Amino acid sequence: MKQVLEKFGTPENLEDPRIRSLLVHLIDQWSLQHDHARERLFLEDLNARCTHAINSLVELHRNKNSFLGMASHDLRNPLISIRGLAEILLSEVAGDLSRTQKEYLSIISSTSNGMLGLVNDLLDVSVMERGQLNIHRVMGSMKDLVEERVQVYSPIAEEKDVRLSARCHEVPHFLFDPVRLGQVMDNLLGNAVKFSPSGSLVEVLLEKEGKSARFTVADSGPGIPSEDLERIFREFQKSGSRPTAGERSTGLGLAIAKKIVEAHGGCISASNGPEKGAVFTFHIPFDQPI
Ligand SMILES: Nc1ncnc2c1ncn2[C@@H]1O[C@H](COP(=O)(O)OP(=O)(O)OP(=O)(O)O)[C@@H](O)[C@H]1O
Ligand SMILES: [Mg+2]
Repeated sequence: MKQVLEKFGTPENLEDPRIRSLLVHLIDQWSLQHDHARERLFLEDLNARCTHAINSLVELHRNKNSFLGMASHDLRNPLISIRGLAEILLSEVAGDLSRTQKEYLSIISSTSNGMLGLVNDLLDVSVMERGQLNIHRVMGSMKDLVEERVQVYSPIAEEKDVRLSARCHEVPHFLFDPVRLGQVMDNLLGNAVKFSPSGSLVEVLLEKEGKSARFTVADSGPGIPSEDLERIFREFQKSGSRPTAGERSTGLGLAIAKKIVEAHGGCISASNGPEKGAVFTFHIPFDQPI
């Protein structure tokens, strides 16, 4: 371009409007191409930096998961021993206990039980994040599973003066993982009871909807602000509601539940009831892609 300007940009030439406009046009084209080339270089550089940053983040995420997995795995066994030994001592097979000793041992037992729950959740998260969630499907009755889990949660609800009522319709037997779906129900029932005020009602419904089983838990607690309805399904995410009797609240249960339901080809969602309270629903298709 410099040589072109030196050769044709003479004062006489510049006086000719046609040559002048031709030169201006050439300069425009040249600078446009030049800018494009610079822009491309800039974008390539940006792209390389982004790829590098993403790779580093993926690596860090992988390291975080394997650390989480190792730490929770190694904490499990000592916790199981502490809880087991506390329960053996509490049963007094190893000798009589004073009231204070019993009281302290009960605290050790319930605290280690809570810690074991947390460690199990962390282990689940680390396994699921690595995409290694294994679903062991067996042909079974979803109705039996719901009735069993409701039975387990009824005394816990009663202790808080919360009434648990279940309507379970017949659903055809199909293939699902009863341990994992039981874990999902436990978290939803546990949440409903945990966030419900004393004297309220929690309603459970199981029904067939098209070619899927639909499970719903509705409570009459504080409900969930609409802006949190999706966020609470992410790890360690909590909304404004507080457990009404000081129960544990880590913000992992729904993230785990979502992964389990999705591994069954289903979906889970939260909404608010027409008056008040939260409503959680999940669907599991009878025919799942395996
Ligand atoms: N029935 C409910 N009513 C009101 N808020 C709820 C209800 N269920 C869940 N939430 C909100 O969603 C958050 C996430 O629930 P999630 O089950 O993931 O965690 P968590 O119950 O706090 O702890 P955990 O890991 O022990 O399950 C809760 O902390 C609470 O803020
Ligand atoms: Mg929970």
